[in-house]
Order: sequence, then C-alpha cells, then structure tokens
Amino acid sequence: MSLTENFPRVELSHRPTPLERLQNVGAEFDTHVWIKRDDCTGLALGGNKSRQLEFYIGQALEQGADTLLTTGAVQSNHVRMTVAAARKVGLEVEVQLEHRVERDQPEYHQSGNPYLVKLMGAKIHYYPEGEDEEGADLALERRAAELAAEGRKAYVIPLSNAHTPYGALGYVDGAEELAAQLQELDIEPARFIVPSGSASTHTGFLLGVRASGCKTPVHGVCVRRDAVSQKQRVATKLRAVIDVIGCNIEIGDDEILCDDSMLAPGYGLPNEATVAAIKYLARREGILLDPTYSGKTFAVLLAMLQQGRFGKNDHVVFLHTGGTVSLFAYPELVDGA
Ligand SMILES: Cc1ncc(COP(=O)(O)O)c(C=O)c1O
Repeated sequence: MSLTENFPRVELSHRPTPLERLQNVGAEFDTHVWIKRDDCTGLALGGNKSRQLEFYIGQALEQGADTLLTTGAVQSNHVRMTVAAARKVGLEVEVQLEHRVERDQPEYHQSGNPYLVKLMGAKIHYYPEGEDEEGADLALERRAAELAAEGRKAYVIPLSNAHTPYGALGYVDGAEELAAQLQELDIEPARFIVPSGSASTHTGFLLGVRASGCKTPVHGVCVRRDAVSQKQRVATKLRAVIDVIGCNIEIGDDEILCDDSMLAPGYGLPNEATVAAIKYLARREGILLDPTYSGKTFAVLLAMLQQGRFGKNDHVVFLHTGGTVSLFAYPELVDGA
C-alpha cells in the first residue's frame, strides 16, 4: 500500500517512468549505472515536477479552485509544468517569474521555459527579487486576494518551506515506484543520486525509499543553497511530510546527505565540471541534462565514478529529473564545441 493513497490526486504523468541502464558509462567505469527517466514524465516535455503537481492539483480541484498561481525563476521548469497541468485540467493560470539568476543573454529570458509558458498562454507577473521565498509567496497571496475580490478562487502553489509540502508526496510515490522496479531486478543499489533544490524531491524520495524497506543512502546534490542550510531544509520538510501522512517512519539526521560540491558559482550557473558532465552524457549515451539541476547532479555522480567509488558488483542509480528545455537558454554551452 502506498503512503500517498489517501490524498487527492490528478493523473498528470506517464508512470512508471523507465529505469534504464547506462551501458556505455557502466562499461567505461566497470560498474553498473542506472538512470530513472523522470525526464520522461510527459506534460510539456517532462520532468520531476509533474509528480509533485499531481498532488497540488488534486487538492486545488477538491477545493473548487478556478485558477493556479505559482512562482519560480525565469527558467523554472516547475512554472512551465504548472502551466501545462493547468491547461490539461482546464484551470486558468498565472505565474510569477523571479529575478533569481544574473544572466543578460536574451536566450535566458526568451527561450526554453519562458517561451513555452508564453506559448501555453499563462498570464505572467514579474518579481524583482530572487532570494526572497517568503516575499514571493506573499505576492502570490496578494494576487489570490485580488482575484477573490473579482469572484475567482485561486489555489497557490507556494515556494517557501513554511508550507505543507504536498509536492513531496509525488516523490514518496516516485521512490516507491523505483523500489518496486529494483526489487523486480533483484538489485539493492549502493547509492541513489538525486537533486536537492526546494527539497521536495529529495525529501519525498528519501521517505519513499525507506518506506519501501530499502536502506540505500540517498545522496542529495545541492543546486540552490549550501549543504548545511539544505540539510536543515530537508529535515524540516521531512518532519512536515511525515506529519501530513501520519506515518511513524524514523529517519535519522545522519541519513540526510547533502553535497554542495557542484553548487558554485550558484543557482542556475553551471561550472566547468557541470558543462563537461552534460557534454559527456550527451555524447556517450545521447541523453540530455540541464545546466541547473540534472547536470549538476550527474556531475557529482561522474566525479564519484572517476574516483572509483563504485566496484564491479555495485549498482548506482541516478534520478534524472528533466529540465532539458532550459538547455536552449544557455547557448554558450556549445560555443566552440
Ligand atoms: C529539472 C529539475 N530537477 C530538479 C529540481 C529540484 O527539485 P526540488 O525543487 O523538488 O528539490 C527541479 C526544481 O525546480 C527541476 O526543475
């Protein structure tokens, strides 16, 4: 029985997503490397957010909302997929784009995610700050109040950690799905490698893995803040998710692994190792990553493989959370390629 069974939910994703072997990478490093293809969830080009949106939108519909409101960076995949989900279930949608990344290139502001958001016809608001989660959420609440005055009913999908993280339920379920696939293959991996941003994915995944009886370490790769702050964020979110589900699974602080070795120079800004990892996977396997999330996450795994951290009989699983749309916002990645 899934821990998420009793929550309202709307089907938005292609599930189960494939669990595939990275044959060429595994052969090069003489180990077993797997990829969970959550970049293939569907919903306007896929990614992890569709699993999370299933629960938010389940609740929005249950509450009788007619409009979705959410916030994110200019190249937010969450924003793009929220707009797609709204269109699929027939809701109005307004999004708030934050000035979170210092990039002047026109492609960053016009191509990739914002292009698709405009294509799907969402109303766009702009928020001048990029590191003010509470303020960004407050601005959404203010907009919801304006809409209420017009007789509309908005559902806010918030950003800050102060809210009940219904989105994390998507990854409790996603991890249960992966655990069942691994069980069928009779594999107990040495490590899972997952991104850790708002921490909904990392938190839900860790809980879902443990709920499935799997003891494998979950290695969270920081893409937004340093390891100390991120660990705190995951711990808080974990308590909130356990609370909202009402289960009594114990997960120690020592099981919350946060690695910020790929974070520099900051959110949405790829470093050299990340660019190299993106090119490596594209050229070895024909699989596309992104500069903000999946590229940094895979770069951590690649560094571990290069250090010989996994033996011949080990299995390691990389969670590909998508984001590839934003490659088009970083044309310099292939300059001189
Ligand atoms: C492609 C992609 N991967 C990973 C993440 C991080 O997921 P979370 O915010 O649940 O930590 C995001 C978040 O926006 C994302 O868009």
